[in-house]
Amino acid sequence: MNLKLKIWRQKDATRKGKMVDYNIADVSPDMSFLEMLDVLNNQLIEKGEDPVAFDHDCREGICGMCSLHINGEAHGPDRGVTTCQLHMRKFKDGDTIYIEPFRAKAFPVIKDLVVDRSSFDRIQHAGGFVSVNTSGNTQDANAIPINKDNADKAFDAATCIGCGACVASCKNSSAMLFVSAKVSQYALLPQGQVEGKRRVLNMVKQMDEEGFGNCSNTGACEVECPKGISLENIARMNREYLAASVTEEK
Ligand code: SF4
Ligand code: FES
Repeated sequence: MNLKLKIWRQKDATRKGKMVDYNIADVSPDMSFLEMLDVLNNQLIEKGEDPVAFDHDCREGICGMCSLHINGEAHGPDRGVTTCQLHMRKFKDGDTIYIEPFRAKAFPVIKDLVVDRSSFDRIQHAGGFVSVNTSGNTQDANAIPINKDNADKAFDAATCIGCGACVASCKNSSAMLFVSAKVSQYALLPQGQVEGKRRVLNMVKQMDEEGFGNCSNTGACEVECPKGISLENIARMNREYLAASVTEEK
């Protein structure tokens, strides 16, 4: 396939960026999207030009590092996959592909297609954990019976990889789907109950401080989420937040 790429280039956070055109030839339909960018970067390096910066790590849909808005969609046109799992067979010979960074105030551009998602880390630090007594007398977690329905829902919530596609897809740049997955993962399990109220209050507070917007109620986040995180988690987080607000001292 021969393709035209329109890629966002931006030297750093302080300078303005712009779309730059590149032509790429002989792209195999079996290449992943990131492999296609690797080929482009090799060509740029051979010509003495600056390669396009983009995030990636595991390249198998697990780590949440890859991002990219491709033709206006977070993680591109396929459903239930991350950018690293997207293949060039989703495109046709002669296509023009627009490649941009995830756009949100709380995800400032570092360079080209790389954005700073450390706001997610700070939300996690605010409550995305359980404290465990390590005195040696701790009860074995496997000895605590957990209702199967709750165990399955907690597992589903825990599959969130923190990629940020939900934020990039929301017209309000809301992080509600991400935060609700993290809250739900613990709220559904006995181990998460002890710090449950503090957790939801602190994580929502941090989310607001980072500059994410309110839930737009459009569900775009759920559609674009590569892990199928359900909107049910947002409803659960809202219930948890309301209950915690009336009973817990902050
Ligand atoms: S909820 Fe989905 S889209 Fe949002 S960070 Fe988690 S995995 Fe990514
Ligand atoms: S590079 Fe790890 S999820 Fe895409």
